Amino acid sequence: MRLIWHGYRYYPYERDLAFREVAALFGNPAFRLTSNGVEWVGEPDSKSISRLTYFARVVSGPRSYETLQNRLEDSGRLGQNRQATRYSVHGLHEYKGKFNPQVAKALLNIFAIEPGQHVLDPFCGSGTTLVECAHLGVTSCGIDLNPLAIFLANAKLRALNTSVEKLRDIHAQLATSLNQAGQKTTQVGDNLRGRYLRSWFDSDTLQIVEFVGMEIRKIAGEVAPVFLALASDLLREYSLQDPKDLRCRRRKSPLPNTPFIHAFIANCTRAIERIEVVQTVLGTNLPLGRAILRDVATIAPNDLQVPCDAAITSPPYAMALPYIDTQRLSLVWLDLLRPDHVRGLEADLIGSREMRVPTRNEMLAAMQNNEAGLPEDEAAFCRQLQAALGSGDGFRRRAVPVLLYRYFSLMQRSFRAVRGVMRQKSPFGLIVGRNHTTLGGIRHDIDTPTHLAALATSVGWTIDEMIPLQTYHRYGYHMSNAVKAEALVLLRNS
Ligand SMILES: C[S@@+](CC[C@H](N)C(=O)[O-])C[C@H]1O[C@@H](n2cnc3c(N)ncnc32)[C@H](O)[C@@H]1O
Repeated sequence: MRLIWHGYRYYPYERDLAFREVAALFGNPAFRLTSNGVEWVGEPDSKSISRLTYFARVVSGPRSYETLQNRLEDSGRLGQNRQATRYSVHGLHEYKGKFNPQVAKALLNIFAIEPGQHVLDPFCGSGTTLVECAHLGVTSCGIDLNPLAIFLANAKLRALNTSVEKLRDIHAQLATSLNQAGQKTTQVGDNLRGRYLRSWFDSDTLQIVEFVGMEIRKIAGEVAPVFLALASDLLREYSLQDPKDLRCRRRKSPLPNTPFIHAFIANCTRAIERIEVVQTVLGTNLPLGRAILRDVATIAPNDLQVPCDAAITSPPYAMALPYIDTQRLSLVWLDLLRPDHVRGLEADLIGSREMRVPTRNEMLAAMQNNEAGLPEDEAAFCRQLQAALGSGDGFRRRAVPVLLYRYFSLMQRSFRAVRGVMRQKSPFGLIVGRNHTTLGGIRHDIDTPTHLAALATSVGWTIDEMIPLQTYHRYGYHMSNAVKAEALVLLRNS
């Protein structure tokens, strides 16, 4: 039996995950590489073939089967040699920090998760893991502290479970009503929300955007979140913010030529086409996962009904760029957050550079005395960064050691809480990025995967494996340019 690669260029780690997946699914590590894939000695088993992530086709004697993954990816492909990552409902809305759905799916295979089992993503973001679970018939639960993440994750799950006929019908009604509207618009209220939105949209665009939101709510009923997500995904593009900037700054580029309503209708058409492919391949009766708005450090067994059989996540980075800032338009437009609560939410997120009380000085004392009880290496690393500060380091840099200490403390609490909702012996896979910081004019690497693994073991997890995810520029450079950008940390609830 020959397993044939997809047409895109692979990162080295994707091949590695592919081999692990084959070994887990087919239970026989005796396979060898061929020019266009892998040769495996054995008879094809249709259930395992249907789960493959990193192969496009399976050839056995005269027969050739296309994998389900290939059919799904075909619907979201942007070019033959580019890996599709926005297939199914993954492309409903962009989300900063979104990871590759293929990695989540491969992990589900490597962990041998079966339909009917339960999987947790403790930092679920826009729901990539939850969607891949649904594709495999696996029940899932996601946790996130960002209301936009929860809104999007649940909208994606709802889209998967709403028949494409119903989505088309709503889309047609919306198109009719919005196109007939002519100059109809909706005024924005003179409240905090309205004032905030007025500061970031020209008044004509804002009235149209509000009108679209109102019509969606009127026409789409319980499926409204799906269409609201599709409209929200366009907001930055049509606002006065520079949509390419990672921070909120005024745009210099002109607004798009296509009217907002046309762009929205086209967005819906594309999304529904992709959903149709999933439903043709997998049906509509997929198990419904759910995403819950919570601080992961506070989850308890009662929140999840049953203990989880595996967890998969991409946790927040240590000191990420402000996450919420560029999502503020969506958060406010969707009425998920008051504009004056944005900074507070930002400060509550793990990895944030914002800091509420306790003040920096209190945190500094906590760090010096290691009040959180971090493993000695992690506490010592933070103190070492503190000692490395130079006179030229400004306000932001001076906060780095303390911010890192807080990040480690919160991640340690999260590992403890996640362990409390997992079955014994269950696996936990984390895709973790590395960091660096410059203090006192010297670059300091922050080996976040190793630190997180140490924090996890300090609260009862054991390390199964640490796999470097080597990446190089996918479309051009040679392997010698490889950077160990991220790592896959595999833990077990011992
Ligand atoms: C790297 S992103 C995850 C993205 C996700 N894998 C996806 O594909 O969309 C990390 C997430 O952690 C969330 N987060 C940060 N602090 C949290 C906390 N205390 N509890 C729960 N979620 C938190 C952030 O809101 C963010 O969505």
